[in-house]
Amino acid sequence: MHSFHYSKGSLHCENVSLSQLTAEHGTPLYVYSAETFRDRFTKLDTAFEGIDHELAYAVKANSNLSVLRLLAGLGSGFDIVSGGELYRVIKAGGDPAKCTFAGVGKTRAEIEYALKEGIYSINVESEEEAAFISEVAVEMDLTAPIAFRVNPNVDAKTHKYISTGKSENKFGIDFEFIRAAYERASSLPNLQLKGLQMHIGSQLTSVEPFVEAVKKAAPLAAELKSKYGIEFFSIGGGIGIVYEEALASGKEAWWTEQDEATRPLTPERYASAIIPSLQDLGLKILLEPGRFIAGNAGVLLTECLYEKKGSSKTFKIVDSGMHHLIRPALYEGHHEIVPLIEPTGEMESVDVVGPICESGDFFCQNRELPRFSPGEAVALMSAGAYGMVMATTYNSHPLPAEILVDGAEAKLVRKRQTFDDLIEAEEVSI
Ligand code: LLP
Repeated sequence: MHSFHYSKGSLHCENVSLSQLTAEHGTPLYVYSAETFRDRFTKLDTAFEGIDHELAYAVKANSNLSVLRLLAGLGSGFDIVSGGELYRVIKAGGDPAKCTFAGVGKTRAEIEYALKEGIYSINVESEEEAAFISEVAVEMDLTAPIAFRVNPNVDAKTHKYISTGKSENKFGIDFEFIRAAYERASSLPNLQLKGLQMHIGSQLTSVEPFVEAVKKAAPLAAELKSKYGIEFFSIGGGIGIVYEEALASGKEAWWTEQDEATRPLTPERYASAIIPSLQDLGLKILLEPGRFIAGNAGVLLTECLYEKKGSSKTFKIVDSGMHHLIRPALYEGHHEIVPLIEPTGEMESVDVVGPICESGDFFCQNRELPRFSPGEAVALMSAGAYGMVMATTYNSHPLPAEILVDGAEAKLVRKRQTFDDLIEAEEVSI
């Protein structure tokens, strides 16, 4: 279960009323539940307790310092994709020695920074990158721990923009070339071949593609262990979450999280399907979950400004949009939209749209939603992952504030941007 529910007619995050938060902090506002973060981390960690493993939270999903601090406190490692993310992890008290560094385009400055901080492994995506890291490591008189990312050419059956494990994707090294990549890297100076990594995509809702990829890569991992003494195999992230809650009328809550038993992918199902292929490798298994940890832990609160009745549609115009939550526009992502005041049951078909001057700026189209009016706020559910991290100031709208709730306590963990913040780095020089 996640921690958003109606209590006394108003939507709460844990024990805090969201209407109270919008009254205090305004909208648009991201709100996160510490309890959900803990719950998700612990569930996944527990599902793998039978084997030597470590969770390396994918920082890209939600990189707020307080979120990183919370996860570091639970013993999490971190999967980072930039120098900026490493900087955040360190500022939040995370341990660089528990960080893996992924991404196809690492710069010299980023590689130097990661090596200086004593990163656990740089996950390398091309032979050219391995040669460059070796060069940098020689100059720095350090040994660079690396793993290659293998592209197992498995269809993740998810949206094409978040599918990464097919040979037409830019990620990793093709399965047929991976052995040669290790062989050549083994003769390069100042490199330690430390592991093998893969990641086939994000928001996977069935276990089969994971099983197929792990079955394909596990024998390779075993071979690399005996040849080069690698110590870890990272199976990436990608576990999907429930975005579409059951809108079952007649139930106590008019939206509830889908019944655990009917969910296609749970940590237990995921673990029990892949552990058999991993348990005899004698390698540390790394997982890089992002969305699974953060997705259901956050909501975006936005206020309805206007209702506009067109000849064919009713538009609810709200004060947030694609600039704060781009998932509907970019991946046709679905986010439930829930009034903060418990609805009475009257429904209407609407488009919920933002203020941005783009036709793609919508949160939903032709969706049956409980009636809400200008002045009322709604929550976009499951916005904790790839929400605020992908927000922009397009159309010069300041970024939203972020709140972290823990029990009855709500802390402002990022201030709302001001107009001054928007222009801070600019100069009028003509
Ligand atoms: N590891 C690697 C190497 C990755 O590229 C990713 C995500 C992850 C781990 C974490 O995947 P997760 O467990 O969160 O699925 N913005 C998109 C998702 C992009 C995911 C990119 N890579 C969205 O909003 O759906």
